[in-house]
Amino acid sequence: MIVNETYTLSNGVKIPKVGFGTWQSKSGEEAYNSVLWALEAGYRHIDTAYAYGNEESVGKAIKDSGVKREDIFVVTKLPAEIKSYDGAMKHFESSLKALGTGYIDLYLIHAPWPWTEVGKDCTEGNIEVWKAFCELYKSGKVKSIGVSNFHPENIEPLIKATGVKPMVNQIRYFVGNTQEKVSEYCIQNGILIEAYSPLATGELLENGTLDPLAQKYAKSVAKICLRYCLQKGVLPLPKSTHRERILDNTDLDFEISKEDMAYLDSLHHIASTRQLRD
Ligand code: A2P
Repeated sequence: MIVNETYTLSNGVKIPKVGFGTWQSKSGEEAYNSVLWALEAGYRHIDTAYAYGNEESVGKAIKDSGVKREDIFVVTKLPAEIKSYDGAMKHFESSLKALGTGYIDLYLIHAPWPWTEVGKDCTEGNIEVWKAFCELYKSGKVKSIGVSNFHPENIEPLIKATGVKPMVNQIRYFVGNTQEKVSEYCIQNGILIEAYSPLATGELLENGTLDPLAQKYAKSVAKICLRYCLQKGVLPLPKSTHRERILDNTDLDFEISKEDMAYLDSLHHIASTRQLRD
């Protein structure tokens, strides 16, 4: 089953090939139940963020699930607004406390700029934060480190300042929106791409473009989208708050043909590529 398979990060750490997304899952019952159902369905990789406001509910579900902590890969993110060494350290401790997981498997800088100032040059601040991340990594409190929504020009200064390459870049990625420049750079530098919004936050399921292909494979559009990511070597993070969908999204042990992958690669702008707050 796909949820038991792993990619290997550049530091040798194994990461389950499909993660469970919790962006827009409300703190409390909604986030708690969905994570519990995900773990019950076999997911072993849970993605959250300080900014989602649901770390406590996610952590409680992990604790109550009965699955051993070391068998779950837990990801959280430093808020995009925090661009100082001390701020990073402080927020890390706060996330760790809220999750209650003892350590974090992957810690990400949520974005290269604050969400209210998209595109702002925060190179100096990102370097400070990356230095804190390197310290957290060395201390063992974090097993791997990375970035999210970063472009090559945001990543290069981090490597130059510390000699440490991010192990992951989590970006908005789905059929028709593969961010070629960023993807190419990540592949060349051994940085694993994680796809948030792999269903274009649901848009691809509604607009009909992928219906014929889904019918051909007798699979849902959601599964075609997730399988597409996997065959691109990308790690999808589907989100759902419905138990049956959460389970259904793990049924990915099928193969999209080379020709159909080329067709999917040829699609552009079939859903909104607008940078959403994630
Ligand atoms: P819900 O949470 O109500 O189940 P993305 O992963 O790209 O962010 O997309 C998430 C959106 O897609 C959510 O609105 C989610 O709805 C919906 N979704 C997730 N999986 C499925 C599925 N298998 N079938 C239909 N809708 C789904």
